[in-house]
Parts: sequence; C-alpha cells; structure tokens
Amino acid sequence: MEEQKNKVESSLSERLLKERLDNQPVYTISEDSLQTLLNMVQEGLTEFPEELLQKVSIQDLLNTLKKAHGVYLNTKLPEIEQSIYNLYSKQTNSDNVLLMLCGFFISYQKKLVAHIQYEEVFLFPYIQSLLEFQKTGKEIDRTRFGNFTLKQFFENHSNLEEDLNEVRRKIDEHIQRQKTPFAFRIFMTQLEHFEKDLAVHAVLEDEVLLPRLVDLELHLLG
Ligand SMILES: [Fe+2]
Repeated sequence: MEEQKNKVESSLSERLLKERLDNQPVYTISEDSLQTLLNMVQEGLTEFPEELLQKVSIQDLLNTLKKAHGVYLNTKLPEIEQSIYNLYSKQTNSDNVLLMLCGFFISYQKKLVAHIQYEEVFLFPYIQSLLEFQKTGKEIDRTRFGNFTLKQFFENHSNLEEDLNEVRRKIDEHIQRQKTPFAFRIFMTQLEHFEKDLAVHAVLEDEVLLPRLVDLELHLLG
C-alpha cells in the first residue's frame, strides 16, 4: 500500500516536473549567449570574450536591434513627445528657456528617426544580402547598394546617445537655477533612461555586430 502510494506520488511529481519543463520557453545557445552579452553590456562592459561572441548568431542580433528600433519609434519617442506636450501645455512667460531647450530635443528626435530609417531601409537589408551571399553565393545587388561597404559605414558612424547626452547636459545647465516643475523632471528622467538604452544599443551595433560583419565582408568581398 505504502509502496503504491510512493509510486503514485513520484509519477505525479515527475509529471508536474515535465509539465513545468514543457511550459518553459526553450532558448537556443545563441539566444542564451545573447542574453549573457546583453547583461554584460548593461553592466557597462564594452569588450567581450570571443568565445561568447561566436555563439551569438548575427540573425538573432539583428532581430534584437530591430525590435529595439520598434520600441524607440513606437513607445519611447511617443512617451517623450507626450511629456514635451505636457510641458508646452503648462507654458508660462518665464518658461521660454525651457521651451527652447525642448526644441533641441525635437530636432534630435528627427535625427534619431532618420538614423533608424537608414538602418532599417538600407543597412540591415545590406547585411541580409551579405549573409545570403555567404550562404548561397548570391551576388549582392549593386544596383540597390551601389559601392556601399560596411567598413566605410563603420568608420563614419556617429553615436546617437552622445548627442542625446549633450542635449541633456545643455538642458541641465539651464534649468538648475530654476525651480523645476514635476513634468519637467519626468521629462529629464525619460531622457536619461533613453540615453542608457541607446548606449546599450550602440555597443551591440558598434562593438559586436559591425566589427564581426566588417571582417566577414572583407573575407567575402576582399
Ligand atoms: Fe540601431
């Protein structure tokens, strides 16, 4: 009797364990390594073990970057825009400096959108073509991409989070002497978080994705 009870219990716990395992998302080595890499970037590291980098597939990296672009365009920028709108709606005569400084951010936003669009419309498709070439030997469509090379792009790539830092610093300089309204403090915190997000994104693009692809491009196209 006791033995039978034990058997039922153990098969039950086995079943529960199996169910739990089945419900867990299954991560590939690449996704796991990418998560490790992301944690390291968030901790502020900019150099990574080669062994770890090799485990991350370029496709996963591209998907992560694309997803982040979507979050910036569809969530982050509209949230910041909403804050700017709140600031404008509370405008008083003495808020002119504040409004001028928000103007800095609006032009920055345009720059960021243009940068993301360039990557989505041109850079990422080029990378896909390069990967396709590596896989199947299908030539890169030069009528679409001209003489573009990643090497040249990499050398002229500007850092968006640094520009944002400058905007934030300028705003900070002007407002410290004033009594800052709550909506403005929210705005500044949003900018700060966004800057951190962009810094992580930039490390993934500039320290992980591009160096690896520049090497691949050199290897494939000479
Ligand atoms: Fe990007």
